[in-house]
Amino acid sequence: MSEVLFTNMAQLVTPGAGLQRGAAMRELTVIPDAALLVSGGVIRWVGERAQAPSAAREHDLGGAAVVPGLVDPHTHAVWAGDRLADFEARVQGVPYEDILARGGGIRSSMRATGAVSVEELVRLARPRLQALQASGATTIEVKSGYGLDFAAERRMLEAIRILQAEFPLVPTLLIHVPPTEGRAEYVQAVCEDLIPEVAQAGLAAAVDVFCEKEAFTVEETRAILQAARAYGLQLKLHADQFHAIGGTELACGLGALSVDHLEASGPAQIAALAGSETVATILPGVTLHLGLPAAPGRALIDAGAAVAVGTDLNPGSSPVFSTGLALALAVRLCRLTPAEALTAATVNAAAALGLPDRGALAVGQRADFLALHSRDWRDLPYTLGTSPVRDVWVGGVCA
Ligand code: NIG
Ligand code: FE
Repeated sequence: MSEVLFTNMAQLVTPGAGLQRGAAMRELTVIPDAALLVSGGVIRWVGERAQAPSAAREHDLGGAAVVPGLVDPHTHAVWAGDRLADFEARVQGVPYEDILARGGGIRSSMRATGAVSVEELVRLARPRLQALQASGATTIEVKSGYGLDFAAERRMLEAIRILQAEFPLVPTLLIHVPPTEGRAEYVQAVCEDLIPEVAQAGLAAAVDVFCEKEAFTVEETRAILQAARAYGLQLKLHADQFHAIGGTELACGLGALSVDHLEASGPAQIAALAGSETVATILPGVTLHLGLPAAPGRALIDAGAAVAVGTDLNPGSSPVFSTGLALALAVRLCRLTPAEALTAATVNAAAALGLPDRGALAVGQRADFLALHSRDWRDLPYTLGTSPVRDVWVGGVCA
Protein backbone atom coordinates (compact mmCIF):
# COMPACT_ATOMS: atom_id res chain seq x y z
CA MET A 1 0.00 0.00 0.00
CA SER A 2 1.69 3.25 -1.09
CA GLU A 3 2.09 5.66 1.77
CA VAL A 4 2.56 9.41 1.31
CA LEU A 5 3.19 12.10 3.91
CA PHE A 6 1.86 15.45 2.66
CA THR A 7 3.86 18.29 4.19
CA ASN A 8 4.47 22.03 3.98
CA MET A 9 0.92 23.23 4.55
CA ALA A 10 0.70 26.73 5.99
CA GLN A 11 -2.44 25.50 7.72
CA LEU A 12 -4.78 22.53 7.66
CA VAL A 13 -8.38 23.42 8.42
CA THR A 14 -11.24 21.00 9.03
CA PRO A 15 -14.66 20.61 10.63
CA GLY A 16 -15.24 17.57 12.82
CA ALA A 17 -16.18 14.34 11.04
CA GLY A 18 -19.88 13.58 10.59
CA LEU A 19 -23.00 15.74 10.59
CA GLN A 20 -22.57 19.06 12.43
CA ARG A 21 -25.59 21.05 13.53
CA GLY A 22 -26.20 24.52 14.90
CA ALA A 23 -23.28 26.21 16.66
CA ALA A 24 -21.05 23.13 16.12
CA MET A 25 -20.93 24.14 12.44
CA ARG A 26 -18.59 26.99 13.46
CA GLU A 27 -16.08 24.75 15.28
CA LEU A 28 -13.14 24.24 12.95
CA THR A 29 -9.76 22.77 13.85
CA VAL A 30 -6.87 24.85 12.47
CA ILE A 31 -3.42 23.23 12.55
CA PRO A 32 -0.49 25.45 11.52
CA ASP A 33 2.48 23.86 9.70
CA ALA A 34 0.52 20.62 9.33
CA ALA A 35 1.13 17.21 7.78
CA LEU A 36 -1.22 14.49 6.55
CA LEU A 37 -0.36 10.80 6.16
CA VAL A 38 -2.31 8.95 3.46
CA SER A 39 -2.30 5.32 2.40
CA GLY A 40 -4.78 3.32 0.38
CA GLY A 41 -6.70 6.55 -0.33
CA VAL A 42 -7.47 7.04 3.38
CA ILE A 43 -6.12 9.49 5.99
CA ARG A 44 -3.99 7.60 8.55
CA TRP A 45 -2.58 10.48 10.57
CA VAL A 46 -3.06 14.25 10.78
CA GLY A 47 -1.26 16.79 12.96
CA GLU A 48 1.67 19.16 13.25
CA ARG A 49 4.59 18.49 10.95
CA ALA A 50 7.00 18.31 13.89
CA GLN A 51 5.14 15.27 15.27
CA ALA A 52 4.56 13.48 11.95
CA PRO A 53 5.51 9.82 11.54
CA SER A 54 8.04 9.01 8.85
CA ALA A 55 6.69 7.73 5.53
CA ALA A 56 7.99 5.96 2.44
CA ARG A 57 7.38 9.11 0.37
CA GLU A 58 6.81 12.82 1.05
CA HIS A 59 4.88 15.33 -1.03
CA ASP A 60 5.57 19.04 -0.47
CA LEU A 61 2.39 21.13 -0.85
CA GLY A 62 4.34 24.36 -1.19
CA GLY A 63 2.95 26.26 1.80
CA ALA A 64 -0.70 26.04 0.75
CA ALA A 65 -3.68 26.21 3.07
CA VAL A 66 -5.39 22.80 2.96
CA VAL A 67 -9.10 22.11 3.49
CA PRO A 68 -11.28 19.03 2.91
CA GLY A 69 -12.52 18.39 -0.62
CA LEU A 70 -15.95 19.89 -1.17
CA VAL A 71 -19.02 17.72 -1.62
CA ASP A 72 -21.62 19.06 -4.04
CA PRO A 73 -24.83 17.42 -2.78
CA HIS A 74 -27.23 18.73 -5.45
CA THR A 75 -26.67 19.04 -9.21
CA HIS A 76 -28.59 18.46 -12.41
CA ALA A 77 -25.37 18.26 -14.45
CA VAL A 78 -26.85 16.06 -17.20
CA TRP A 79 -29.01 17.97 -19.69
CA ALA A 80 -29.25 18.83 -23.38
CA GLY A 81 -30.37 22.05 -25.05
CA ASP A 82 -30.21 25.42 -23.36
CA ARG A 83 -32.41 27.94 -21.54
CA LEU A 84 -30.95 31.11 -22.99
CA ALA A 85 -34.31 32.40 -24.25
CA ASP A 86 -35.83 31.78 -20.79
CA PHE A 87 -32.96 33.78 -19.30
CA GLU A 88 -33.63 36.74 -21.58
CA ALA A 89 -37.36 36.60 -20.79
CA ARG A 90 -36.78 36.31 -17.06
CA VAL A 91 -34.44 39.26 -16.79
CA GLN A 92 -37.16 41.28 -18.54
CA GLY A 93 -39.66 40.28 -15.86
CA VAL A 94 -41.31 36.97 -16.82
CA PRO A 95 -41.33 34.75 -13.66
CA TYR A 96 -39.65 31.31 -13.72
CA GLU A 97 -42.90 29.64 -12.61
CA ASP A 98 -44.89 31.31 -15.43
CA ILE A 99 -42.40 30.03 -18.01
CA LEU A 100 -42.81 26.52 -16.56
CA ALA A 101 -46.62 26.78 -16.47
CA ARG A 102 -46.59 27.69 -20.20
CA GLY A 103 -44.71 24.52 -21.08
CA GLY A 104 -41.25 26.10 -21.16
CA GLY A 105 -38.53 26.01 -18.51
CA ILE A 106 -37.94 22.51 -17.15
CA ARG A 107 -40.34 21.12 -19.78
CA SER A 108 -38.22 22.55 -22.60
CA SER A 109 -35.09 20.94 -21.10
CA MET A 110 -37.05 17.67 -20.99
CA ARG A 111 -37.85 17.89 -24.71
CA ALA A 112 -34.19 18.54 -25.57
CA THR A 113 -32.79 15.92 -23.18
CA GLY A 114 -35.29 13.28 -24.26
CA ALA A 115 -34.15 13.68 -27.86
CA VAL A 116 -30.47 12.72 -27.46
CA SER A 117 -28.50 9.52 -26.90
CA VAL A 118 -26.68 8.37 -23.77
CA GLU A 119 -23.36 9.10 -25.50
CA GLU A 120 -24.43 12.67 -26.24
CA LEU A 121 -25.53 13.16 -22.61
CA VAL A 122 -22.11 11.94 -21.45
CA ARG A 123 -20.34 14.28 -23.88
CA LEU A 124 -22.39 17.27 -22.72
CA ALA A 125 -22.04 16.57 -18.99
CA ARG A 126 -18.29 15.84 -18.91
CA PRO A 127 -17.01 19.46 -19.06
CA ARG A 128 -19.58 20.55 -16.47
CA LEU A 129 -18.30 17.90 -14.05
CA GLN A 130 -14.71 18.88 -14.85
CA ALA A 131 -15.56 22.48 -13.92
CA LEU A 132 -17.17 21.43 -10.62
CA GLN A 133 -14.18 19.26 -9.78
CA ALA A 134 -11.67 22.00 -10.62
CA SER A 135 -13.63 24.33 -8.32
CA GLY A 136 -13.03 21.91 -5.44
CA ALA A 137 -15.73 19.23 -5.61
CA THR A 138 -14.38 15.77 -4.77
CA THR A 139 -17.84 14.13 -4.61
CA ILE A 140 -20.74 15.26 -6.80
CA GLU A 141 -24.39 14.22 -6.66
CA VAL A 142 -26.09 14.18 -10.08
CA LYS A 143 -29.83 13.88 -10.63
CA SER A 144 -31.90 12.59 -13.49
CA GLY A 145 -35.22 14.40 -13.97
CA TYR A 146 -35.18 15.73 -17.52
CA GLY A 147 -36.59 12.49 -18.92
CA LEU A 148 -39.84 12.99 -20.85
CA ASP A 149 -40.55 9.32 -20.33
CA PHE A 150 -39.03 6.47 -18.33
CA ALA A 151 -36.67 5.47 -21.14
CA ALA A 152 -35.21 8.98 -21.14
CA GLU A 153 -34.87 8.91 -17.34
CA ARG A 154 -32.93 5.65 -17.64
CA ARG A 155 -30.69 7.17 -20.34
CA MET A 156 -29.83 10.00 -17.95
CA LEU A 157 -28.98 7.52 -15.18
CA GLU A 158 -26.93 5.42 -17.62
CA ALA A 159 -24.98 8.54 -18.60
CA ILE A 160 -24.25 9.19 -14.91
CA ARG A 161 -23.11 5.57 -14.49
CA ILE A 162 -20.69 5.92 -17.42
CA LEU A 163 -19.31 9.18 -15.99
CA GLN A 164 -18.72 7.45 -12.63
CA ALA A 165 -15.60 5.94 -14.23
CA GLU A 166 -14.17 9.47 -14.44
CA PHE A 167 -15.64 11.30 -11.43
CA PRO A 168 -16.82 10.39 -7.90
CA LEU A 169 -20.56 10.75 -8.56
CA VAL A 170 -23.63 9.86 -6.51
CA PRO A 171 -26.70 9.26 -8.73
CA THR A 172 -30.24 10.30 -7.75
CA LEU A 173 -33.51 9.52 -9.54
CA LEU A 174 -35.43 12.83 -9.66
CA ILE A 175 -39.18 12.80 -10.28
CA HIS A 176 -39.30 16.36 -11.53
CA VAL A 177 -42.57 17.52 -13.13
CA PRO A 178 -45.78 15.59 -13.84
CA PRO A 179 -47.17 15.13 -17.34
CA THR A 180 -49.91 17.61 -18.27
CA GLU A 181 -52.40 14.75 -18.59
CA GLY A 182 -52.70 11.46 -16.68
CA ARG A 183 -50.73 12.47 -13.62
CA ALA A 184 -52.35 9.86 -11.33
CA GLU A 185 -51.34 7.09 -13.74
CA TYR A 186 -47.87 8.62 -14.02
CA VAL A 187 -47.33 8.64 -10.24
CA GLN A 188 -48.57 5.06 -10.04
CA ALA A 189 -46.15 3.97 -12.79
CA VAL A 190 -43.27 5.80 -11.07
CA CYS A 191 -44.00 3.84 -7.89
CA GLU A 192 -44.72 0.46 -9.49
CA ASP A 193 -42.39 0.42 -12.50
CA LEU A 194 -39.67 3.07 -12.56
CA ILE A 195 -38.52 2.97 -8.92
CA PRO A 196 -38.35 -0.86 -8.75
CA GLU A 197 -36.43 -1.02 -12.06
CA VAL A 198 -33.96 1.68 -11.06
CA ALA A 199 -33.44 0.11 -7.64
CA GLN A 200 -32.88 -3.36 -9.10
CA ALA A 201 -30.40 -2.04 -11.66
CA GLY A 202 -28.54 -0.11 -8.95
CA LEU A 203 -28.83 3.06 -11.05
CA ALA A 204 -29.60 5.44 -8.16
CA ALA A 205 -28.82 5.76 -4.46
CA ALA A 206 -31.79 8.01 -3.70
CA VAL A 207 -35.09 9.30 -5.04
CA ASP A 208 -35.86 13.03 -5.09
CA VAL A 209 -39.17 14.75 -5.92
CA PHE A 210 -39.95 18.38 -6.83
CA CYS A 211 -42.77 19.13 -4.35
CA GLU A 212 -44.24 22.45 -5.50
CA LYS A 213 -47.42 24.08 -6.81
CA GLU A 214 -46.22 23.71 -10.42
CA ALA A 215 -44.93 20.16 -9.83
CA PHE A 216 -45.98 17.39 -7.39
CA THR A 217 -48.45 17.71 -4.49
CA VAL A 218 -47.59 16.59 -0.98
CA GLU A 219 -49.75 13.48 -1.36
CA GLU A 220 -48.12 12.52 -4.67
CA THR A 221 -44.72 13.15 -3.11
CA ARG A 222 -45.59 10.94 -0.14
CA ALA A 223 -46.54 8.05 -2.43
CA ILE A 224 -43.31 8.36 -4.42
CA LEU A 225 -41.07 8.62 -1.35
CA GLN A 226 -42.79 5.66 0.30
CA ALA A 227 -42.19 3.56 -2.82
CA ALA A 228 -38.54 4.66 -2.82
CA ARG A 229 -38.12 3.61 0.77
CA ALA A 230 -39.82 0.24 0.10
CA TYR A 231 -37.15 -0.46 -2.53
CA GLY A 232 -34.28 0.49 -0.23
CA LEU A 233 -33.50 3.88 -1.75
CA GLN A 234 -32.69 7.00 0.28
CA LEU A 235 -35.05 9.98 0.21
CA LYS A 236 -34.37 13.57 -0.84
CA LEU A 237 -36.72 16.43 -1.68
CA HIS A 238 -36.90 19.73 -3.57
CA ALA A 239 -39.20 21.73 -1.28
CA ASP A 240 -40.22 25.28 -0.36
CA GLN A 241 -38.58 26.75 -3.49
CA PHE A 242 -41.53 29.05 -4.23
CA HIS A 243 -44.26 27.94 -1.79
CA ALA A 244 -44.08 26.06 1.51
CA ILE A 245 -46.83 23.52 0.78
CA GLY A 246 -45.80 20.88 3.32
CA GLY A 247 -42.99 19.00 1.58
CA THR A 248 -40.40 19.84 4.22
CA GLU A 249 -42.56 18.58 7.07
CA LEU A 250 -43.33 15.41 5.09
CA ALA A 251 -39.67 14.69 4.31
CA CYS A 252 -38.53 15.30 7.89
CA GLY A 253 -41.23 12.93 9.11
CA LEU A 254 -40.12 10.25 6.65
CA GLY A 255 -36.44 10.56 7.67
CA ALA A 256 -35.21 11.97 4.35
CA LEU A 257 -31.48 12.55 4.00
CA SER A 258 -32.06 16.15 2.95
CA VAL A 259 -34.58 18.78 1.96
CA ASP A 260 -33.18 21.17 -0.61
CA HIS A 261 -34.00 24.78 -1.68
CA LEU A 262 -35.98 26.18 1.31
CA GLU A 263 -36.15 29.74 -0.08
CA ALA A 264 -39.81 29.98 1.03
CA SER A 265 -39.36 28.19 4.36
CA GLY A 266 -40.81 29.90 7.41
CA PRO A 267 -40.70 29.20 11.18
CA ALA A 268 -42.65 25.91 10.91
CA GLN A 269 -40.31 24.45 8.29
CA ILE A 270 -37.21 25.68 10.14
CA ALA A 271 -38.48 24.03 13.34
CA ALA A 272 -39.21 20.78 11.49
CA LEU A 273 -35.67 20.65 10.10
CA ALA A 274 -34.05 21.62 13.41
CA GLY A 275 -35.97 18.88 15.17
CA SER A 276 -34.99 16.16 12.68
CA GLU A 277 -31.91 14.37 11.35
CA THR A 278 -32.68 15.71 7.87
CA VAL A 279 -30.06 18.04 6.38
CA ALA A 280 -31.25 21.47 5.18
CA THR A 281 -29.51 22.02 1.84
CA ILE A 282 -29.37 25.61 0.63
CA LEU A 283 -28.69 26.50 -3.00
CA PRO A 284 -27.66 30.17 -3.18
CA GLY A 285 -26.91 30.01 -6.91
CA VAL A 286 -30.69 29.94 -7.44
CA THR A 287 -31.10 33.11 -5.37
CA LEU A 288 -28.43 34.83 -7.46
CA HIS A 289 -29.72 33.65 -10.84
CA LEU A 290 -33.48 33.98 -10.28
CA GLY A 291 -33.23 37.09 -8.11
CA LEU A 292 -35.55 35.55 -5.52
CA PRO A 293 -35.33 35.50 -1.71
CA ALA A 294 -32.49 33.51 -0.16
CA ALA A 295 -33.01 30.41 1.97
CA PRO A 296 -32.88 31.28 5.69
CA GLY A 297 -29.44 29.77 6.29
CA ARG A 298 -28.72 31.93 9.33
CA ALA A 299 -32.07 31.16 10.99
CA LEU A 300 -31.70 27.42 10.27
CA ILE A 301 -28.31 27.25 11.99
CA ASP A 302 -29.46 29.43 14.89
CA ALA A 303 -32.41 27.04 15.36
CA GLY A 304 -29.98 24.09 15.53
CA ALA A 305 -30.42 22.59 12.06
CA ALA A 306 -27.62 20.97 10.03
CA VAL A 307 -27.15 23.08 6.88
CA ALA A 308 -25.41 21.94 3.68
CA VAL A 309 -24.73 23.95 0.52
CA GLY A 310 -24.68 22.91 -3.14
CA THR A 311 -24.60 24.48 -6.58
CA ASP A 312 -27.91 23.09 -7.94
CA LEU A 313 -26.06 23.28 -11.27
CA ASN A 314 -28.82 23.22 -13.92
CA PRO A 315 -29.66 25.17 -17.07
CA GLY A 316 -32.71 27.00 -15.70
CA SER A 317 -32.36 28.13 -12.12
CA SER A 318 -28.63 27.92 -11.37
CA PRO A 319 -25.98 27.94 -14.09
CA VAL A 320 -23.32 27.80 -11.37
CA PHE A 321 -20.42 25.61 -12.49
CA SER A 322 -18.40 26.08 -9.28
CA THR A 323 -18.98 24.34 -5.96
CA GLY A 324 -16.52 26.79 -4.40
CA LEU A 325 -18.69 29.68 -5.60
CA ALA A 326 -21.78 28.11 -3.98
CA LEU A 327 -19.86 28.07 -0.68
CA ALA A 328 -18.87 31.72 -1.13
CA LEU A 329 -22.45 32.74 -2.03
CA ALA A 330 -23.83 31.02 1.10
CA VAL A 331 -21.84 33.55 3.13
CA ARG A 332 -23.12 36.58 1.19
CA LEU A 333 -26.70 35.55 0.46
CA CYS A 334 -27.66 33.20 3.32
CA ARG A 335 -25.56 34.85 6.05
CA LEU A 336 -23.45 31.83 7.01
CA THR A 337 -20.10 32.59 8.63
CA PRO A 338 -17.06 31.42 6.62
CA ALA A 339 -16.56 28.54 9.08
CA GLU A 340 -20.20 27.47 8.82
CA ALA A 341 -19.99 27.60 5.02
CA LEU A 342 -16.94 25.28 5.02
CA THR A 343 -18.81 22.80 7.23
CA ALA A 344 -21.91 23.11 5.03
CA ALA A 345 -19.87 22.34 1.89
CA THR A 346 -17.97 19.37 3.37
CA VAL A 347 -19.19 17.10 6.19
CA ASN A 348 -22.81 18.30 6.07
CA ALA A 349 -22.98 17.97 2.30
CA ALA A 350 -21.57 14.44 2.69
CA ALA A 351 -24.28 13.71 5.29
CA ALA A 352 -26.89 14.97 2.80
CA LEU A 353 -25.72 12.07 0.59
CA GLY A 354 -25.51 9.53 3.41
CA LEU A 355 -21.70 9.40 3.17
CA PRO A 356 -20.11 9.53 6.65
CA ASP A 357 -16.66 8.57 5.28
CA ARG A 358 -15.73 11.97 3.85
CA GLY A 359 -15.74 15.73 4.33
CA ALA A 360 -13.26 16.02 7.22
CA LEU A 361 -9.48 15.76 7.44
CA ALA A 362 -9.45 13.12 10.16
CA VAL A 363 -8.12 9.59 10.58
CA GLY A 364 -10.22 7.05 8.65
CA GLN A 365 -11.74 9.59 6.25
CA ARG A 366 -11.18 9.47 2.49
CA ALA A 367 -8.11 11.49 1.55
CA ASP A 368 -10.07 14.12 -0.38
CA PHE A 369 -8.51 17.54 0.06
CA LEU A 370 -7.79 20.87 -1.63
CA ALA A 371 -4.54 22.83 -1.70
CA LEU A 372 -5.39 26.52 -2.12
CA HIS A 373 -3.37 29.22 -3.84
CA SER A 374 -3.46 31.05 -0.51
CA ARG A 375 -1.78 30.37 2.84
CA ASP A 376 -5.08 31.32 4.57
CA TRP A 377 -8.17 29.10 4.11
CA ARG A 378 -10.49 32.10 4.36
CA ASP A 379 -9.57 32.97 0.78
CA LEU A 380 -11.89 30.06 -0.15
CA PRO A 381 -15.15 31.75 1.03
CA TYR A 382 -13.74 35.21 0.20
CA THR A 383 -12.71 34.89 -3.45
CA LEU A 384 -15.23 35.54 -6.24
CA GLY A 385 -14.71 35.28 -9.98
CA THR A 386 -11.47 33.31 -10.01
CA SER A 387 -10.72 29.99 -8.36
CA PRO A 388 -8.87 30.01 -5.03
CA VAL A 389 -8.31 26.24 -5.46
CA ARG A 390 -4.84 25.28 -6.73
CA ASP A 391 -5.12 21.51 -6.76
CA VAL A 392 -7.71 18.89 -5.98
CA TRP A 393 -6.82 15.54 -4.39
CA VAL A 394 -9.31 12.67 -4.55
CA GLY A 395 -8.47 9.58 -2.48
CA GLY A 396 -4.89 10.87 -2.18
CA VAL A 397 -4.49 11.25 -5.97
CA CYS A 398 -4.25 14.61 -7.73
CA ALA A 399 -7.28 15.00 -10.04
O1 NIG B 1 -33.47 22.66 -8.43
N1 NIG B 1 -36.81 23.44 -9.02
C1 NIG B 1 -36.74 22.49 -9.69
N2 NIG B 1 -35.69 21.96 -10.28
C2 NIG B 1 -34.44 22.60 -10.52
C3 NIG B 1 -34.50 23.51 -11.69
C4 NIG B 1 -34.38 22.78 -12.91
C5 NIG B 1 -34.51 23.65 -14.12
O2 NIG B 1 -34.94 24.83 -14.04
O3 NIG B 1 -34.18 23.11 -15.17
C6 NIG B 1 -33.94 23.34 -9.32
O4 NIG B 1 -33.99 24.56 -9.24
FE1 FE C 1 -32.42 21.14 -8.05
